[in-house]
Amino acid sequence: MIYPVVMAGGNGTRLWPMSRELYPKQFLDLVGEQTLVQETLLRLRGLEVAAPVLICNEAHRFLAAEQLRQIDLLDHNIILEPAGRNTAPAIALAAQAALASNKDAMLLILAADHAIANDASFREAVASAKPLAEAGELVTFGIVPTHAETGYGYILRGEIKGPGFRVEQFVEKPDADTAQAYVTSGDYYWNSGMFLFRADRYLEELQAHRPDTYEACLAAMDGTKRDLDFIRVNEQPFLQCPSESVDYAVMERTLRAMVVPLDAGWSDVGSWSAIWELGQKDTQGNVTEGDVISHNSEGSYVLAENALVGTVGVKDLVIVQTKDAVLVADKHQVQDVKKLVDQLKASG
Ligand code: GDD
Ligand code: MG
Repeated sequence: MIYPVVMAGGNGTRLWPMSRELYPKQFLDLVGEQTLVQETLLRLRGLEVAAPVLICNEAHRFLAAEQLRQIDLLDHNIILEPAGRNTAPAIALAAQAALASNKDAMLLILAADHAIANDASFREAVASAKPLAEAGELVTFGIVPTHAETGYGYILRGEIKGPGFRVEQFVEKPDADTAQAYVTSGDYYWNSGMFLFRADRYLEELQAHRPDTYEACLAAMDGTKRDLDFIRVNEQPFLQCPSESVDYAVMERTLRAMVVPLDAGWSDVGSWSAIWELGQKDTQGNVTEGDVISHNSEGSYVLAENALVGTVGVKDLVIVQTKDAVLVADKHQVQDVKKLVDQLKASG
């Protein structure tokens, strides 16, 4: 049985000022009707799966529970982390929770910061990957790259095997020159950040490559019980756990990885330019949300939360107005919005 696991513990700082510490991007409806977490879960409809697991920071427990309630997802588990330790530990917690109810549990790991245009193709890719995961492979879903993005993992395609390919090499977040060489070669996929594997196989690989993380996560789940909707992780051992993503901790190291191609209109909702890309454009290529008037403006993204925003003669700008902050940025430099958040944090 497949246990979907939605990882929703990220910060989303590049989407400030909409995404905030108390209200990170995965809980916002920045693209489409539902929030990213809700869209991730609704995408599963039509797949035969067990009750989904959402794993997030305990500060967001009510937000998470409310959003599941809004989409009538009554049968679910929410695992609460006392602090973020990135995705390798988060998956280890979810793996143990699933194994407690089913020793053959398979995990469908989903990030909560993606948009997927074609849900049916996504479900088909998952179904085709299932036999590989059952056979003990760690399956990732690969996207044909369109540009040298440095924020992604890159996967070198090896020997073909059924619906997928053996992973010859997995490189997380290469530098720009390396990424460009990978894209030019035509032999690499982007890692979508979604995975399918047996829960026990993941824990074996984690134990082999990151024994400290494995031990800390075992202790963190020891004796935990579901309390109402929530499974609370033991704080002390979890705080001892090293912070590392699954990509570095396991995927770069395992010898048993396979990649199944995914052609489903996947995009990462990582920055304001990505949201502009996904939006409905007017004839000048502007995307606007809320009360916005424009004259002679082009290629811009303007979001007005609770005021009227007007633009004249602007090009390729991002303007985001919220009730207590306004962002004005060059659309080509929006990756650096997180630097503003760092400055804000440093200044207390
Ligand atoms: N529960 C939990 N705890 N979830 C977390 C934590 C954590 O400590 N940290 C991150 N997440 C969640 C995020 O909310 C997001 O949904 C998902 O895990 C992935 O984390 P990101 O921080 O967004 O990773 P990334 O975008 O830098 O890189 C990953 O995704 C790329 C594609 O979007 C990698 O898997 C790359 O290889 C991949 O290309
Ligand atoms: Mg991401």
